[in-house]
Amino acid sequence: MTGNLLVQNTMMALPNGIVEGDLRVVNGTIHTVAPNGGLVPKDGEFVIDATGLHLLPGAIDPHVHFRDPGNPEKEDLESGSRAAASGGITSFLDMPNTVPNATNRMELESKIGLASEKAVTHHGFFIGATSNNVADLQSIEGMDGVCGIKIFMGSSTGDLLVHEQEHLENIFANTGGIIATHAEDENRLQNRIPQFEHRTDIAAHAECRDVECALLATKRASALAKDYDHRLHIVHLTSGSEADWLASNKGDLITTEVCTQHLTFDQDDVEKLGVRALMNPPIRYTEDRDTLWKRLKDGTIDCVVTDHAPHTLQAKSVGYPKAPAGMPGVETSLPLMLTHAMDGKCSVSDVVRWMCAGPAKVYGMENKGSLIEGYDGDLTLVDLETRRTITDDDVWTKVGWTPYAGMELTGLPMWTIVDGVPVHRRTQNGSFRGEPLARPGQTGRVLRFS
Ligand code: DOR
Ligand code: ZN
Repeated sequence: MTGNLLVQNTMMALPNGIVEGDLRVVNGTIHTVAPNGGLVPKDGEFVIDATGLHLLPGAIDPHVHFRDPGNPEKEDLESGSRAAASGGITSFLDMPNTVPNATNRMELESKIGLASEKAVTHHGFFIGATSNNVADLQSIEGMDGVCGIKIFMGSSTGDLLVHEQEHLENIFANTGGIIATHAEDENRLQNRIPQFEHRTDIAAHAECRDVECALLATKRASALAKDYDHRLHIVHLTSGSEADWLASNKGDLITTEVCTQHLTFDQDDVEKLGVRALMNPPIRYTEDRDTLWKRLKDGTIDCVVTDHAPHTLQAKSVGYPKAPAGMPGVETSLPLMLTHAMDGKCSVSDVVRWMCAGPAKVYGMENKGSLIEGYDGDLTLVDLETRRTITDDDVWTKVGWTPYAGMELTGLPMWTIVDGVPVHRRTQNGSFRGEPLARPGQTGRVLRFS
C-alpha cells in the first residue's frame, strides 16, 4: 500500500543540511522537496502540519533479532516491526538465529512470507552460515528480501557458529554478496570461559570476552575479505582497538557498525544495570566508548544499529553468568541518538547519516535513507523540543523493558510514515507509546539489495 501525503512547515534534514519547507509524497515516492515551502494541499492528500517538528528519512536498523519463528512470545514480526515503527525505523534487517535457524532458502522464504503478513515496515533477512551450507548460501544470491550472509565466528545466542579456518575460507571463496560477521574469537573464548566460571560479578563479562577476543576475529575476518576479494561488514564494534585498527586497515571491501548501547554505556552503567546490560560482545570501558564515538565521527564506522535482542526479564533473573545476553532497543535507538545530538555529542545530520543514509549504502538499498526526490516516501517526524522520561511500561517490544528506563529522551517520532502511509503516531500530551495506524501486512515491502 502506498500513499499521497504532504508535510508542511517542517525542518527537513536534507543531505546538505537542515532547511525549513514542505515535502510531498505521491504514490509512495518523494515527489517534491520544497525548501521554501508553499506547497498547496491537493484532493485526496493526507496533510500533516509539522510546525515545530523535524522531518527525517525513515531510519533503517540493519541489525535486529526478532524471534519469529521460534519464540514469538518474546518478539514476532508484528510486535518487532510495530516497535520499530514507533521508534521511527521504517526498514529492518533481521538476523538468522531464529528457531529453526534461517540457514536455507526454504526458511528464508518462510520468514519473508511471515513478514509480508505481519510487518508494518519494510523488511529484509540474513541467511545464517554453518560449517556445511555453502550450497544454501549460494542458492539465495540475488534473492529479494535477503540482505546477506551472517557468520557467528564466536558463540552467542543460539547455536550458529563457524570458526574453523577451512570452513570460513570455503564460505568467503564460494559466495557472493555481503558477509556480516559477529567477530569474537571462538578458541580464545573457549579457553577463557572456564577461567571465569567462579565469577558471578557482571564486570567479569567484559574481562572474559575481552578486547583481544574481538580484535583477533575482526583481523581474521578482514584478512579473509581481502584474500577472497569479498565484501565484509563487521557487526557491532565494541572496542577502541578494533575501531582504531579498522581506521587504517578497512579499505574498500569492509564496512562496520556500532550499537547505540556501546555509544551510551560504560563499565559503570553495566555495574548499575546488571544483567539488563549483558550482551555479546560486551559493553566495555569509558575509553572504548570514547574511541567508538571518535571513529564514528571520522567515518571509520559506517552506521549505528541496535542488535535488538529481546530476552525476558524472567530469563535474565537467573543472574550472571547464566542470564541470556542481549537487550531490546529497536524502538529507542533514534530518540536516543537524537538525545545525544541535542546534548551536543553530534549533530542531527550526523544521526541521519549514521541511521538512514549509512545503512542504505552499506547494504545497497536503493532509493532509501535520504530526503531526495524520487526516493521512497519513508519518513519520520520527530519532536526535538520535548523531553520525556522513558520507563519499562512505555515500550512496544513484547519483553516489556528497556535498558534506557529512567533516561530522559527527546526526538520521539510523532509520525512514522512508510511509502507515504502513516503507520504510527504520537500526540503531544498522549501516551509515550503512541498509537499504531496500520494493520499488519498493510504497509511495508520486502527489501531489495543491489
Ligand atoms: O547479545 C547478543 N544477543 N549478541 C548476539 O550476538 C545475539 C543476541 C541474541 O540474539 O540474543
Ligand atoms: Zn546481533
